[in-house]
Amino acid sequence: MRFRIGNKGISFFLLIIFFSILIVFSCKKESDDNFVFNPTPHLFPKPTDWRAIPLDANNPVSEEGIALGRKLFFDPILSSDFTISCASCHKPELSFSDDTRTSKGVDGQLGKRNSMPLINLAWNKKLFWDVRSNTLPEQALIPVPQHDEMNLDWAIATDRLQKDANYPMMFRKAFNEKTITKELVAKAIAQFEMTLISYNSTYDKYVRGEVNPDPAFFRGLEIFRTEKGDCFHCHTLAAVETFADPVRVFTNNGMDLASNANDFLDLGVGKINGLDADKGKFKIPTLRNLAFTAPYMHDGRFATLEDVIESYNLGPKNSPTVDNIMIVKANYRLENYGHYGLALSAQEKADLKYFLLSMSDTSFVNNPDFKKPIE
Ligand code: HEC
Ligand code: HEC
Repeated sequence: MRFRIGNKGISFFLLIIFFSILIVFSCKKESDDNFVFNPTPHLFPKPTDWRAIPLDANNPVSEEGIALGRKLFFDPILSSDFTISCASCHKPELSFSDDTRTSKGVDGQLGKRNSMPLINLAWNKKLFWDVRSNTLPEQALIPVPQHDEMNLDWAIATDRLQKDANYPMMFRKAFNEKTITKELVAKAIAQFEMTLISYNSTYDKYVRGEVNPDPAFFRGLEIFRTEKGDCFHCHTLAAVETFADPVRVFTNNGMDLASNANDFLDLGVGKINGLDADKGKFKIPTLRNLAFTAPYMHDGRFATLEDVIESYNLGPKNSPTVDNIMIVKANYRLENYGHYGLALSAQEKADLKYFLLSMSDTSFVNNPDFKKPIE
């Protein structure tokens, strides 16, 4: 009798322990103890005929890393007064550029250069107009402490993130790290940026045989890829991911007259490496998504594509560092045809503009995965 009661007592006791354990576990949402690091690798789209996406061995891209990078990219927590995020100057609907000549940072401070669109960045060997940055994680460290951009010490930024309700667990899921560092912030943002791939412009669809463009497209393409317009020699059509010469990367496209290399208002690459030969030179920009990225050039000097085309049409302005082939071709035209500039007719300019716009991708700017995440 006593034995049987005892047995029941033990069962009851065990039952209580079992339920208490159950209650403790169900109350511990995502606690430290049951965390398992298991990132989901991201599958990149592979547009036909493109070079394979250059992945960063030091920063494998995962869905968890992308989600974190996306949240950080749109979050003003990374600016001193909580008003500016990366997306303030890199707006998804503008192909991640903005529509002002130069961008406003905290306290309405104006920067010196035009915001650059963020498209197919993995295929870029160098970043910034003056190519001063080599990798995406290296670049992402720069805007936060920069005074005319986000103006926040990294130590404060990481402290804010560490105290946030959501970020610490997101960092653990992405990197298996409990301590948030600026390097991890930069890596997460870089992972999100790697996914910003644009490959559905009319031009891409034409290359894939999916559309039959208008005659104006073919007339514009002909100007672009021949001596008539001479655009191809820097904006390389074969480098389809960027339409920018992947070997030379930067040059001086003859927009400014200067008798001395130090006369350029912005010394560009030469200011970074100290070489006179590189003063007044800038990164050859992508020609993708021009429909969304006005104004144009490193200083946003041109409001429209008509202005850009008119400037090239006049021929290169002379300076000690102007692209040599541009000058050779302009002098050749002058000697043989009597005009230094391209001498495009109104129709030809319109065709060239039509072709340039065919490299724009509306599905990219409307992609819901690239917008501010819904909290
Ligand atoms: C206040 C406006 C502003 C903010 C905020 C800003 N950027 Fe930029 N971004 C620019 C401008 C302007 C440039 C070109 C600067 C230059 O070349 O000197 C640029 C250039 C870049 C480039 C180089 C693109 C290329 O093709 O070379 C990347 C990448 C980039 N920004 C990412 C970011 C990220 C990530 C953040 C947030 C951490 C950020 N930006 C915050 C204005 C801004
Ligand atoms: C010698 C090389 C070279 C040639 C030739 C050339 N470009 Fe450029 N292009 C550049 C460089 C470099 C820049 C950036 C210059 C700057 O920001 O000051 C640029 C900028 C541009 C931009 C502005 C893009 C932006 O995002 O701001 C457009 C549009 C453009 N070029 C179109 C053309 C067209 C069309 C032609 C032919 C008529 C052409 N380019 C010929 C090198 C060249």
